[in-house]
Amino acid sequence: MSDNFIPFSRPSLSDAAINEVVDCLQSGWITTGPRVKQFETQLKDYLRAPHALAVASATAGLHLALLALRLQPGDEVITSPLTFVASVNAIVLAGGKPVFADIDPHTFNIDPQKIKAAVTPHTKAIMPVHFAGLPTDLDPIYTIAEQHNLRVIEDAAHAIGAYYKDQPIGSFGDTQVFSFHPNKNITTGEGGCIATHDEDLATFASLIRFHGIDRDPANYNDKQQLNHHYDVALPGFKYNMMDIQAALGMHQLNRLDDFIDKRTELAESYQAILTQLPELTLPQAPKYNHKHAWHLYTPLLNLERTKLTRDQFIISMRECGIGVGVHFQAAHLYSFYRQRYDHKEGDFPIAEDISKRIVSLPLFPDLSVAQQDKTIETMINIFRSK
Ligand SMILES: Cc1ncc(COP(=O)(O)O)c(C=O)c1O
Repeated sequence: MSDNFIPFSRPSLSDAAINEVVDCLQSGWITTGPRVKQFETQLKDYLRAPHALAVASATAGLHLALLALRLQPGDEVITSPLTFVASVNAIVLAGGKPVFADIDPHTFNIDPQKIKAAVTPHTKAIMPVHFAGLPTDLDPIYTIAEQHNLRVIEDAAHAIGAYYKDQPIGSFGDTQVFSFHPNKNITTGEGGCIATHDEDLATFASLIRFHGIDRDPANYNDKQQLNHHYDVALPGFKYNMMDIQAALGMHQLNRLDDFIDKRTELAESYQAILTQLPELTLPQAPKYNHKHAWHLYTPLLNLERTKLTRDQFIISMRECGIGVGVHFQAAHLYSFYRQRYDHKEGDFPIAEDISKRIVSLPLFPDLSVAQQDKTIETMINIFRSK
């Protein structure tokens, strides 16, 4: 990749964050320890959540949160087909059956009316995905959950810093899982967080995120605090976050609101200029009050007007030094989901249509105005030269 290449995403790491990692490396304690503890306290405060657990990734967090529901064979979890496959895989790995409900064509988030229609006597949970950092319409979802006694595990991988009706995602509701992968709004390299209002879920997840090891002092008269004084209540995973990762996260979280301001500015510039292009359909805001975290900027190609396929568009942009992503292919059409659950083209037409046309344009806090201008100009030239 040339130095001038403009990627679709790039983390912004301050000297303070890099120095914190170096301090951590030199401290002699690099795995889970004091920095993870501090990062968890910061997360709890930022999210205004009663419990915040740092984990190895959002995938791990979703897996743990769903395992806490103790799904039985045949139990169903309703989710969006327009998501990264990690959301759906986690349902299967936790022993559940993913059931898809189609999305709203304007916001690309799961449609609460379609959720309502998908509820069966086997439904145990709903997993909305806050696509691109735009909060899903949660009120009707929590109403459906209350009516049918369902849990709600929000896939908030894109949504740290987003608000739904004046409340931060993570500060209310049931359980939310955030991602700190390098292309997300804050990063710890790899990493994630479970926020929950359910104390039992928090206890269970903190137990099985690290081998099922239980050091509850209630079980031990542990005056000597010896390392081998623990019980194993059940077999757990190795889903802990390291202090090296938390060292980055502590500093990233301090900058999150500024990052989102910058992302918002850039997204608004895209919206203002690109609205003139007939080759694009732009993302639309829902009517309810919200703050978008702008993890991704995702217009749709109007393929009947572009005269080139999406792949040709992405290749042309790459040849001009600009990275374009695709988020996401409709999850129900991957071969495992087709074969196991008999899904086929046409099952969720809105998600399928959008997944064929969607592109993610460069959006990250350090994207300069000149780089954004170059991105827009290049797109216009590509559309006009066809
Ligand atoms: C919607 C969604 N859910 C879950 C994940 C998984 O996150 P992680 O990479 O932290 O496991 C991602 C990652 O891109 C995602 O986009």
